[in-house]
Amino acid sequence: MTRTRVAILISGRGSNMAALIAAARAADYPAEIALVVSNVADAAGLQRAREAGIKTAVVDHKPFGKDRAAFEAALQSALDANGIALICLAGFMRLFTAAFVTRWHGRMLNIHPSLLQSFPGLDPHGQALRAGVKLSGATVHFVIPETDAGPIVAQGAIAVHDDDTAETLSGRVLAVEHRIYPLALALLAQGRVRIVGGRCLFDGATMPDAPLIAPQ
Ligand code: GRF
Repeated sequence: MTRTRVAILISGRGSNMAALIAAARAADYPAEIALVVSNVADAAGLQRAREAGIKTAVVDHKPFGKDRAAFEAALQSALDANGIALICLAGFMRLFTAAFVTRWHGRMLNIHPSLLQSFPGLDPHGQALRAGVKLSGATVHFVIPETDAGPIVAQGAIAVHDDDTAETLSGRVLAVEHRIYPLALALLAQGRVRIVGGRCLFDGATMPDAPLIAPQ
């Protein structure tokens, strides 16, 4: 089996990265985590990746100042040098130019800790709590120039508790993130995801019928 070569881009602790690395250890997983790139030299996730035996690279954005295209050129060289076919953003705190996003169209995923299209941007858990939604969750989506938007590949939901804080809610959502990201990447790497009219359709994926109802 040829496994699709994936780069994970991080800026921080890298728990989603770790979930992807763990999933890709399975012999039948269709993707290989070939590279972890961080724009932050001391990101905790980098150390975690090294300990897992994954190749890492740092492409610091600071020397490029406001020149996003130059930063992206450096990033692209690291991706090219490692034969990367797919990108997973996992807590990567930089915005891309439309040119970079277009170049990776249909080949770059992101994860966001809300049920998009609700609560994009910063503090999604605070937004969810203030809105009083009873279900929240996480979304894996293709990256388009607009932030936290793009065709949705996978979502997972949990109930919001009356006494949740942004912290407790984010903990339960994070556990969902760690399940749906490996799932979404596997579907994409297997070539089972088609983008049709801005929506993802799947070859041979099961959609459960059971509702998640809160409260009970
Ligand atoms: C996650 O909540 C992810 O959804 C968001 O940033 C956070 C990154 O966490 N985009 P980690 O670095 O994967 O632990």
